[in-house]
Amino acid sequence: MSARRDLPVAFFDSGVGGLSVLREAVKRMPHENCLYFGDSANAPYGTKSEEEIRSLTLGHARRLYDMGIKALVVACNTATSAAIRPLREIYTDIPVIGIEPALKPAVRSGEHPRVLVMATPLTVQGSKFHRLLDQYRDWGEITALPCPGLMEYVEKGELNGPGVRSCLEKLLKPCLERGVDAIVLGCTHYPFVRPLIREIAGENVQILDGGEGTARELQRRLAEMDLLTDRKEKGEIVYMESLPERIPLCRELMKMN
Ligand code: DGL
Repeated sequence: MSARRDLPVAFFDSGVGGLSVLREAVKRMPHENCLYFGDSANAPYGTKSEEEIRSLTLGHARRLYDMGIKALVVACNTATSAAIRPLREIYTDIPVIGIEPALKPAVRSGEHPRVLVMATPLTVQGSKFHRLLDQYRDWGEITALPCPGLMEYVEKGELNGPGVRSCLEKLLKPCLERGVDAIVLGCTHYPFVRPLIREIAGENVQILDGGEGTARELQRRLAEMDLLTDRKEKGEIVYMESLPERIPLCRELMKMN
């Protein structure tokens, strides 16, 4: 059992976005070894069909599983929406953790708040998201905002240039004019442009993402299966990318807060 405890936790995303989840996991569990795989060569996932995303995700999950891992974190809302169910059916011996837009804390942020959910087109079209909406629609006024084209800026490492600023302004301004109390970052790439979203939305809007909640759930599931490492030294992070030239960007993004 102790050998199993020292296996790495694998994190998967369509690109560099899942690092916003990995960094939360590292904050909570600094001794764990982690493996990060970003599929930037096939990004974006959010404008692909559900079948394509499922097939890419299942293929990558198989390779990660075969490397020897103790848990799989699908650090991508889009891949979670398309593939979490088959993944959980296939890998029954390890925790398989997905991520979904943080609607619950958002609707609790005020009295019937106006909540804007930024996510990929695939995520907001998916039945998983519709079930989530049904669960919380009485608690607030929830609007889904598909953001095609936004993740590409993060993939390029452009977190504050004129291109990403104008993309965000075009997306957000019409909604902000109607009034927004909370914004949910429903794609793991978006926390990296949070400072810019904050600037555009102003100080009075709450901005939430699912990274911390997902890291907490991972910790809970590892503890439940007695899989938390007992090593005392800092864990190792191994970065893998289908576009290897993105690895330096991965390291840079991990240093951001
Ligand atoms: N990072 C991904 C998510 O959380 C998707 C970005 C994409 O590939 O479109 O949804």
